[in-house]
Amino acid sequence: MRQRPQQQIPLLLPQRERKRLSLNFLPLIESKRNGEALRTAQIQAVISEYVAGKIPDYQMAAMLMAIYFRGLNAEETRALTFAMRDSGDILKFPNDSRPLVDKHSTGGVGDKVSLPLAPLLACLGFRVPMISGRGLGITGGTLDKLESIPGFRTALSFEEIISQVQSVGCVICGQTEKMVPADKKIYALRDVTGTVPSIPLITASILSKKLAESLNALVLDVKYGCAAFMQTPEAARELAQSMVSIGQECGVNTQAVLTDMNTPLGRAAGNWLEVKESIQCLENKAPEDLTQLVVEFAACLLVQTELSGDLNAARDVARKSLLSGAPRHKWDEMLLSQGADLAAFKLKLASDEHASNLVSLKADRSGFISKCDARIIGEVVRDLGGGRLSKESVIDPDVGIDQIAKPGEKIQAGHTLARIHAANRVSAETARKQLGGAFAISDQPPSLSNYSALRSV
Ligand code: URA
Repeated sequence: MRQRPQQQIPLLLPQRERKRLSLNFLPLIESKRNGEALRTAQIQAVISEYVAGKIPDYQMAAMLMAIYFRGLNAEETRALTFAMRDSGDILKFPNDSRPLVDKHSTGGVGDKVSLPLAPLLACLGFRVPMISGRGLGITGGTLDKLESIPGFRTALSFEEIISQVQSVGCVICGQTEKMVPADKKIYALRDVTGTVPSIPLITASILSKKLAESLNALVLDVKYGCAAFMQTPEAARELAQSMVSIGQECGVNTQAVLTDMNTPLGRAAGNWLEVKESIQCLENKAPEDLTQLVVEFAACLLVQTELSGDLNAARDVARKSLLSGAPRHKWDEMLLSQGADLAAFKLKLASDEHASNLVSLKADRSGFISKCDARIIGEVVRDLGGGRLSKESVIDPDVGIDQIAKPGEKIQAGHTLARIHAANRVSAETARKQLGGAFAISDQPPSLSNYSALRSV
């Protein structure tokens, strides 16, 4: 069979072809095991047959492991991305002068950027269909954070998503049952077969979901460091380059920014505590590292969509919008539209204590914070009940850590390094012991890493 050019990839293969290929899955596994490239039609068939339940999990697991070791070339990755996108419904928006944009993060600890960013982007003249996920392990999830808001609904129908994007300008919600079912099924299998950390599989997984939002532009926050998927900037750059080039080839203006995840973003980690810090960002009272990233992603999208000519001017526009207070009002509008009880939300915001036990970790000496380990902090939040050990785990929205001291800060002995919000006394004390290992204090100020921008390729 001759390979089709990328633009002509059909939504589904003809029935006759699908049947023929579905009988022949073993040779495809063997081809990939032997390091051969799969054809576009073969990849399409694998995805549609797997979603239809015609390929058993044990064979798909073997294929995923073969991909993990042998990789996929750019053409195969693009074909996989399109096939996964086309496994379900695609959001279709009415014609409108406002560009459709989104940001996606590869995940980290204290990463609440999406929450203030969505209303800011809506105020900057974008439409933002931000379809988000849940946390797993030490990585927090946007939906879990939002569900700590009284009444907030994250499960919306297709019609509700489109209507809210058109009227409010932004929505943050979960994938509908019908969106990208291939990714749901394949990701669950990857999760239990050790095949998550594969650059082509991550690329196809993330981009298939973003392409199903019918975006004009996408900015990717690719994290590196001890609490990230990718431990080094080099590995993060490789993943970023893969996603940028496939995103561009798929017709979405895509750019990536590499950001540090050795230390948590902001000073809070834990679902409700992160919502609270997001509100501080919208009210211009947040830690600067958080606000800087929010502004940076908004600026990237302004440039990508040509609403702004250069990045510095775009940063000014985004900062001014934040300072105007309009995104804070837009946030309330988004909450109301998604069923939140605004009075209960405001009452909850006004209180400082939600979990029943608060304890602080204090510095035992004076000096400079030289380490604030995001992985340990993520593990403590997860063990307090704020994250999931498995997909079935139930989240406690109110536990977590705030008042986190950050690298470079000068502190005195007895200064608070972090405050723990726990559901009971025992877990509070366990957390305090665990958390001790997250911090180091030195006599000299440490050299600080910073994020570095990666231009579209
Ligand atoms: N996030 C995703 O959505 N998919 C991956 O494969 C990894 C992270």
